Amino acid sequence: MSMIHRPRRLRATGGIRSMVRETSLTAANLVYPLFVVPGTNVKKEIGSLPGNFHLSPDMAVEMAREAYDLGIPAVLVFGLPEYKDERGSSAWDMNSPVQQAVMAIKQVLPELVVITDVCLCQYTSHGHCGLLNGNKVDNDPTLPLLAEVALSHAKAGADMVAPSDMMDGRVAAIRDLLDRSGCSDVSIMSYAAKYASAYYGPFRDAADSTPQFGDRRAYQMDPANSREALREVALDIEEGADIIIVKPALAYLDIVRQVKDKFLLPVAAYNVSGEYAMVKAAAAQGLIDEPRLVIETLTSMKRAGADIIITYHALDAVRWL
Ligand code: PBG
Ligand code: ZN
Repeated sequence: MSMIHRPRRLRATGGIRSMVRETSLTAANLVYPLFVVPGTNVKKEIGSLPGNFHLSPDMAVEMAREAYDLGIPAVLVFGLPEYKDERGSSAWDMNSPVQQAVMAIKQVLPELVVITDVCLCQYTSHGHCGLLNGNKVDNDPTLPLLAEVALSHAKAGADMVAPSDMMDGRVAAIRDLLDRSGCSDVSIMSYAAKYASAYYGPFRDAADSTPQFGDRRAYQMDPANSREALREVALDIEEGADIIIVKPALAYLDIVRQVKDKFLLPVAAYNVSGEYAMVKAAAAQGLIDEPRLVIETLTSMKRAGADIIITYHALDAVRWL
């Protein structure tokens, strides 16, 4: 009896495999995060994110140029401010590192898409993502502050703002202030499904944004839930989000797929700091083949439905593609 079905026929050569490949990862899918600090001429490797740097605005321009020259269309800018207070007021200070870096990058690389993280945790003395009322993060009084942060980024020239705080109603508050301020063309990339995750550890070290007490479980999502993620996404879309982020990525690819299937907006997966750090640690010990593993991982995110992948591997990944 002959065997009619032989799936291996279509795996036999590189040429055939490339013909039947269902998913292709390209530089155009990637977003590279930048960590901006005060000063000039600062480029200091981040211990918890090897291969990534704390950059002063002038050096952020150089790093942005490197990404742009590799064909990466966008950067996501995070800031470490000069000062912190209870309200996080350095977050909307036009002299803070993010605003300065956005202006500098846009001046030199007008075509590069500049996205900014909108949150308060790097800027508040207590390290929480919103205003405190006692030991609780107070939702509604936080909204106008987040909108103010987004507006300051838009005024600096950001193409998109990315609120990561997980307050209810923040997309609507940001959309409203941007629209009333002549910034209706600025997009909102919303961290709609952001989980309370242990995978953020290295980032909090890099961004000096660890909460001084408690944790973020009263505002970020419970890792056990998926229907709730769909509800969060639906609400953000109603409020005016243009792009949806699922975060973290690797442990939440089921969420990426569901969001992709149920909604019509572009979906971004955030390959977060802990995912990156695990790969780097394993590679440093010679346990894995880093280029292959990174491309396999990022491809899995694309296959799960991500149109956009935010990743600290972006520069390396493009070189390895
Ligand atoms: C803060 C913020 C976090 C990340 C992006 N923005 C961490 C947190 O919620 O503490 C995580 C990014 C990463 O781990 O790579 N709002
Ligand atoms: Zn935050």
